[in-house]
Amino acid sequence: MKHMIITGASRGLGQALVKALAYGNFVLHCIARTDMGPLAASVKGRVGDIRTHSYDLTRCEEITDLMETIFSEIEEPEFIGLINNAAALTPVGPFGKIDSKKLSEAVSLNLSAPLILMNEFVRLSSSFLCDKRILNISSGAGKHPYYGWSAYCSSKAGLDMATRVFAEEQKEKKEKDRVKILSLSPGIVDTDMQKLIRKQPRENFIYVGKFIEFHKSGALQDPDMVAEKIKEILFLDFFPDGEILDIREL
Ligand SMILES: NC(=O)c1ccc[n+]([C@@H]2O[C@H](COP(=O)([O-])OP(=O)(O)OC[C@H]3O[C@@H](n4cnc5c(N)ncnc54)[C@H](OP(=O)(O)O)[C@@H]3O)[C@@H](O)[C@H]2O)c1
Repeated sequence: MKHMIITGASRGLGQALVKALAYGNFVLHCIARTDMGPLAASVKGRVGDIRTHSYDLTRCEEITDLMETIFSEIEEPEFIGLINNAAALTPVGPFGKIDSKKLSEAVSLNLSAPLILMNEFVRLSSSFLCDKRILNISSGAGKHPYYGWSAYCSSKAGLDMATRVFAEEQKEKKEKDRVKILSLSPGIVDTDMQKLIRKQPRENFIYVGKFIEFHKSGALQDPDMVAEKIKEILFLDFFPDGEILDIREL
């Protein structure tokens, strides 16, 4: 079977990825805080299996246990993948005006959790001789500073750098033991995260008008279409291993 671990699977791009990957002999391991029972029921029958884990990824210290539970259900895989998709934009606002606890939680979710998941993925998959790939969902905000998005921009920049370090390390391994990795920005996608951006008061996010305009002009991409394109990239024979890419350039 092919196994895919997807974080933030309950809505937005993550849910669209679940729908795109729910076919054939895939076993999907879905992680988010919300109950994903209805999502699992909607794709069951189309997919090898779907397992849901209601888990708050800001609880970084228990991610090892979560991954051990997931891997205890994986036997003789022909493929294992991890999509680090879950992330939060909040807190939004300039330094000095944001809640420090929320700042710490955002960095835990957007950066610490993906790094721990990558670490556990390498450790727990080391005995499996199969194609192994990690996709980190990044953002243009990891490359350009946006007023008021300190936690989001810096954690996405950190995720890109972690991807590069990871690829450097894996290069040292034999091809059969290697875990391939890619960091991919999905473009502007029509999800709850965009709704939240449009609701920000201008004093917290001075570019809010630009994002309201993106919405009005129909510039937002449909999550299902973006997920289909991500699926294609994920299974390319010539996987762009170690790259930091933007889907709009592909
Ligand atoms: N939308 C865009 O325009 C855009 C642009 C660039 C990059 N991205 C990136 O694309 C990815 C998906 O974004 P999206 O737009 O689909 O966001 P979204 O609609 O806000 O969905 C976020 C997902 O993350 C999960 N999540 C949030 N907090 C969590 C927590 N503490 N523990 C576990 N799961 C948690 C949510 O599930 P629960 O609430 O059920 O936990 C949800 O499934 C993110 O990495 C984002 O940075 C999006």
